[in-house]
Amino acid sequence: MKKIVIALDGYSSCGKSTTAKLVAAELGYAYIDTGAMYRAVTLYFLEHHVSLTNPKEIKDALSKIEVEFHYNPKKQRNEVFLNGLNVEDEIRKMYISDKVSEVSVIPEVRRAMVAQQQKMGKKRGVVMDGRDIGTAVFPDAEVKIFMTADVDTRTKRRQEELLQKKQLVNYDDIRENLLKRDHIDSTRAESPLRRAEDAHLLDTSHMTIDEQVEFVIERVTAQLLRN
Ligand code: DC
Repeated sequence: MKKIVIALDGYSSCGKSTTAKLVAAELGYAYIDTGAMYRAVTLYFLEHHVSLTNPKEIKDALSKIEVEFHYNPKKQRNEVFLNGLNVEDEIRKMYISDKVSEVSVIPEVRRAMVAQQQKMGKKRGVVMDGRDIGTAVFPDAEVKIFMTADVDTRTKRRQEELLQKKQLVNYDDIRENLLKRDHIDSTRAESPLRRAEDAHLLDTSHMTIDEQVEFVIERVTAQLLRN
């Protein structure tokens, strides 16, 4: 069967990664969480005090950063490694969420990540989630989904997710962070978050995970039958 690229873009915390993981498992595809890559770069920049306004420091830092995914069979998930160190848990913390959009607007950072993502998906057979997959990374993706949900649903989901990781974060702080990131992500100059013209719109406000997965699988099946 022909292998395709499935691009899942959309706002923060509307269920992209959960849906993407399950779709990838069902199809036997690789799952690539591109947000994790921007989070890993943010962690490096913070740890090394890289100035976000100094192009030379940014370029030097990027040349020293290696971001990889490795499958953890115990946890049955892909985990992100920064220069050989597992940073999967660290990059999900609030101090990273607070800074990641500012780091993601930097054109040099975007170019480096996009090039790496294109390499990772070259053989196709991938489900990639992010903000610009259907518009910039794989404009030729065979299936594009643009996910959205109302902000209170997203805040509740995010709070539950953090609670499961034993991180107690105030509801209003999460809500504010989501809105701030949405704003920065969709107004930046380089590859802003926007729906590709040929993306299917998926509003998950009142949907279960199973329904979201079914929505994507139906579009994938229709696409595969067309070929
Ligand atoms: O998917 P996430 O919330 O983990 O992503 C974290 C941030 O990374 C998000 O606020 C914007 C940025 N990002 C991006 O600019 N482009 C992508 N393809 C994925 C994420």
